[in-house]
Amino acid sequence: MKKIEYKTSADIRSVFDSIALKYDFLNNLISFFMHKVIKKRAIKMLKITNNASVLDLCCGSGDLAAIIKRQCPNCNVTGVDFSNQMLAIAKKKHENIDFLYGDAMNLQFNENQFDYVVMGFGLRNIKNKITVLNEVYRVLRQDGYFMHIDFGAKNFASKIFDFITLVCAKLFSNKYNAYEYLIESKKSFLTPAELIKIYKKSGYKNVYRKDFLFGVISCQIVKK
Ligand SMILES: C[S@@+](CC[C@H](N)C(=O)[O-])C[C@H]1O[C@@H](n2cnc3c(N)ncnc32)[C@H](O)[C@@H]1O
Repeated sequence: MKKIEYKTSADIRSVFDSIALKYDFLNNLISFFMHKVIKKRAIKMLKITNNASVLDLCCGSGDLAAIIKRQCPNCNVTGVDFSNQMLAIAKKKHENIDFLYGDAMNLQFNENQFDYVVMGFGLRNIKNKITVLNEVYRVLRQDGYFMHIDFGAKNFASKIFDFITLVCAKLFSNKYNAYEYLIESKKSFLTPAELIKIYKKSGYKNVYRKDFLFGVISCQIVKK
């Protein structure tokens, strides 16, 4: 079967629109619910302070935003994504959180607006990563934190994960091409060490890195 190429933002948006309905189900299945455990641990590491304003960028169905709201009920949490189908699911699942349409490359927020910005499995899908990191820097308050979490090491454990993903996509989704894209995007994504270099070049400081599941998932926290 010929592979479909996903090049433009519109292509990427259509991938996520197309898999939105089964996104949570497949994530849970593929990771044996581990993604939830890791997301909770990553957010805990941020030690979000009471009443903080927090942006979940590329929020998808709103997992990270919901974990933040649970860990910090007084926080003001906003989720942003450019897939309307993903946003519709996020809004239905988490009525106590604001979810807005927006593009990570051109955020609609003022400078210094957020105490924390978190981004899970999103940056990998965006071509101009430096623009996004500059946008995050712009909307963060001085001494605010950015937490990024995504696939990390391309090791044997990661290959097992790819295999499970494709088998589950074949069995439970009629969007096999979209999952092929996700695997490809994972392979071509920057390593955590490369990302850390870019954070530093973009002005971030105090880098902290924590790897999960033999490095298959990597989380980095940096400060403005
Ligand atoms: C793999 S999902 C991750 C969802 C969620 N953060 C999670 O951890 O489950 C990636 C999300 O990034 C969004 N996305 C990709 N490029 C974007 C952009 N330029 N601006 C806003 N959202 C974007 C997609 O629509 C999709 O919902």
